[in-house]
Amino acid sequence: MPIHCPPSLLVSLSLWILWCFMMPTHCLPYHKTSPCTLTQKTALCSKRKLSSVPLDLPNSIEELHLNHNNIQTLQDHSLSRYTSLHTLSCADNSLMTLGSKVFDNSTNLTNLNLAANKLHHGYQETSLALAMLSRLKVIDLSENQLEDQMATVLLQNMTSLEYLNLSRNLLLRLDENSFSNLHNLKELDLQRNMLFELDQAFDHMHKLQRLNLAFNYLPCLVDFEMTQLLVLNASHNALEWFITNQDLQEPFQLETLDLTDNNLLFFPFLPTQSRLRNLHLSQNRLSFYEHLEENAAYTNLTTSVQFYNLKGNGSNVTAQLWDESLHGDISSLDLLDLSGNQVGYLPLGFISKMPSLTRLRMRTNCLTVFNLTQEKLPRTLYELDLSNNRLTAIHADQGSLRELANLSYLNLSYNYMESLPSKIFSSLSSLSSVDISFNSIGICLHHKRGGNVGEEDQSDCVVWRYINSLKQLYLSGCNLQMLPSSAFTGTPLVHLELSNNPELLFEPSSMTELTGTLHYLGMGNTGFRDFDFSPLHHLKSLNIARNSLTQLPASLQSLELGLLDLRDNKLITLSSRQANTLALNLKTLFLSGNTFDCCHLDWFQTLKGAKGLSIMDREDISCQDLTSRTHRVDCLNSRLDSPICGGSEEESVYWYILLVIVPVFSLVGISIIFILTFNPRMLPKTIKQKCWKPTSY
Ligand SMILES: *[C@@H]1O[C@H](CO)[C@@H](O)[C@H](O)[C@H]1NC(C)=O
Ligand SMILES: *[C@@H]1O[C@H](CO)[C@@H](O)[C@H](O)[C@H]1NC(C)=O
Ligand SMILES: *[C@@H]1O[C@H](CO)[C@@H](O)[C@H](O)[C@H]1NC(C)=O
Ligand SMILES: *[C@@H]1O[C@H](CO)[C@@H](O)[C@H](O)[C@H]1NC(C)=O
Ligand SMILES: *[C@@H]1O[C@H](CO)[C@@H](O)[C@H](O)[C@H]1NC(C)=O
Ligand SMILES: *[C@@H]1O[C@H](CO)[C@@H](O)[C@H](O)[C@H]1NC(C)=O
Ligand SMILES: *[C@@H]1O[C@H](CO)[C@@H](O)[C@H](O)[C@H]1NC(C)=O
Ligand SMILES: *[C@@H]1O[C@H](CO)[C@@H](O)[C@H](O)[C@H]1NC(C)=O
Ligand SMILES: *[C@@H]1O[C@H](CO)[C@@H](O)[C@H](O)[C@H]1NC(C)=O
Ligand SMILES: *[C@@H]1O[C@H](CO)[C@@H](O)[C@H](O)[C@H]1NC(C)=O
Ligand SMILES: *[C@@H]1O[C@H](CO)[C@@H](O)[C@H](O)[C@H]1NC(C)=O
Repeated sequence: MPIHCPPSLLVSLSLWILWCFMMPTHCLPYHKTSPCTLTQKTALCSKRKLSSVPLDLPNSIEELHLNHNNIQTLQDHSLSRYTSLHTLSCADNSLMTLGSKVFDNSTNLTNLNLAANKLHHGYQETSLALAMLSRLKVIDLSENQLEDQMATVLLQNMTSLEYLNLSRNLLLRLDENSFSNLHNLKELDLQRNMLFELDQAFDHMHKLQRLNLAFNYLPCLVDFEMTQLLVLNASHNALEWFITNQDLQEPFQLETLDLTDNNLLFFPFLPTQSRLRNLHLSQNRLSFYEHLEENAAYTNLTTSVQFYNLKGNGSNVTAQLWDESLHGDISSLDLLDLSGNQVGYLPLGFISKMPSLTRLRMRTNCLTVFNLTQEKLPRTLYELDLSNNRLTAIHADQGSLRELANLSYLNLSYNYMESLPSKIFSSLSSLSSVDISFNSIGICLHHKRGGNVGEEDQSDCVVWRYINSLKQLYLSGCNLQMLPSSAFTGTPLVHLELSNNPELLFEPSSMTELTGTLHYLGMGNTGFRDFDFSPLHHLKSLNIARNSLTQLPASLQSLELGLLDLRDNKLITLSSRQANTLALNLKTLFLSGNTFDCCHLDWFQTLKGAKGLSIMDREDISCQDLTSRTHRVDCLNSRLDSPICGGSEEESVYWYILLVIVPVFSLVGISIIFILTFNPRMLPKTIKQKCWKPTSY
């Protein structure tokens, strides 16, 4: 249960009042006479609580920024003096309308930002104002609650527009009348509307290069024929089909196609001629179906599907589902992202259609084997992500590995592999980052005989020695039993992750080769007891969480760590010497999940006060007092929730009592003497002195 700090509202309130007395200008609203800042020909008047356009600016200004104010309408003539204006930004006001003559004198205006207003109220009058802007190139009308009809009216005469932003409005469907006059448009942003239908809305926009349709409700894009488009973003829709007009013989200019997060079942039907470089298909339900055709039981299923376009006039799109060429032209692909689909295999010859591929992402699919020899990955390949599949094996021969001379990043984590060709990684000459976490693969003790990787050379361990390009290695959860000595000879690792191998035994000199290079070491949940970190003098980040440590390893004293993760151990306290050393260099520290002793928290004050150090989970650090009550360490200095401590705290209470008792007893004694003798003046000096001395007790 979270325990909260007592509120300190009163303190902050009084501090604020004090501060206001000392610096009155900060607490007053803006200065009435000159609300804007001028730099050259730009007037910055954002966030000044303005309700109208300032009239006292120099006539010659060219840029005027009025964002985040309370302007409800741009009055006629309020801008007439500023005839040189080319940029006006009035986003995030409460604009409902623009006076129809407001831009009378603004002939040079090219850039207008009206985002995040309420123009759905006065769109008709506003459209008259916008029609005056014959040179306007850029307009942002995003977040204005505009419906289809309103957008059409607003934009009807804006023939000069090149960039239009209509994102975050309420558009439902667009057709050829919606933007009929926008012949010069180059970029159109329609993301985050509610579009479910597009009917030839863009056919006349022959200059359109970038179209963003992300976050809408489009069910399919069929008969795609915008050959001039460079970037099409239709991610986060409900697309089941993407089909290019296959009859078109013209080459497409398309370079980037983003269909992330849709409902595609089939690889998109791409243009037969294009220069497509980036194809984003992650988070769909894609698979390949070639195996169905080979299977006799399915021979009678139809292998072509007809689609009727949404206008319903009967024009046909016929798609062959298992035709080799249906993938279209993918010969220029640089990035293919198929993460988060249901791909069980890649069709034969599919990869070889992409001779310049550099990044292949297949994370979270259903791959069971990957045969590098057979797939013939291109020489250019730089990044290969096969993580989180169902791979039980990777097959490779020496020749195919040598071919992959550019492969730098390889992720095989979260699979079911228990064996690999033992020298697979030593054969990849540019490999710099490998992740094989969460597979059961060990570390080979010695070089196997013979230098080459053969087809059947599968082994339950791999060699990590003499891979001089390798910098980052992730071996988390690999069921490692032993880190042999000289495991990394000749491999200049900078980043080594060994966490989640709870039975890992470290041979004494297993990391000596890394002393000059290692910056990050992950040893969380490795069950280590004693480890000498001192030789790793380049180490900057260390994770030793979840190791049941009862005290900080002494060898940490000699390191200059910037990050230290100590979560979920059994630490009770840190010595002040340790705290002081850590405070010197540490920037980031994790400490929660330990049960510290509430009565020995000096170290916490030291770390809390350390300059440049942030304790990331400070609010979750807890401690126990003598009665086993749990407290939040961060709250303890507030003294309202003070722990019960034995030892020193009780001692101090005892001294307080003594301090009170001594004078009381003395007084009582003096009184008794007074009463007994009835003559204070007759008392001998010696007795008087004795009674007044507290030490006599
Ligand atoms: C419009 O600009 C001209 C100068 O270009 C100026 O003379 C005229 O007064 C301006 N109109 C208004 C209404 O300010
Ligand atoms: C409008 O822009 C043109 C060319 O950029 C410039 O020559 C002209 O002076 C500008 N007009 C005004 C009123 O600033
Ligand atoms: C705007 O365009 C419409 C037709 O598209 C035309 O009838 C109207 O006169 C134009 N308005 C202005 C102010 O140019
Ligand atoms: C359009 O506006 C939205 C929201 O204001 C913004 O996030 C987006 O980047 C803009 N699009 C372009 C192409 O500038
Ligand atoms: C497509 O749009 C989404 C939403 O704005 C964005 O996150 C994504 O990066 C865009 N895709 C590309 C390839 O730019
Ligand atoms: C395939 O279709 C033909 C005729 O249409 C039929 O005679 C045959 O039995 C079908 N085969 C299977 C396996 O259903
Ligand atoms: C059907 O659409 C095509 C273009 O896709 C057009 O040429 C044809 O006139 C339309 N037919 C009808 C009946 O609307
Ligand atoms: C659609 O295509 C099929 C087969 O190609 C043809 O029989 C049919 O007449 C076409 N329909 C129309 C409306 O063009
Ligand atoms: C991998 O592919 C190569 C070439 O097609 C083939 O000779 C080899 O048998 C395959 N290996 C496995 C285990 O399927
Ligand atoms: C290797 O990959 C990088 C990164 O994508 C790329 O820039 C480079 O052109 C590739 N080199 C070769 C020889 O293919
Ligand atoms: C490898 O992939 C896994 C799962 O997709 C991911 O969590 C991990 O961060 C990746 N490793 C690296 C080094 O990028």
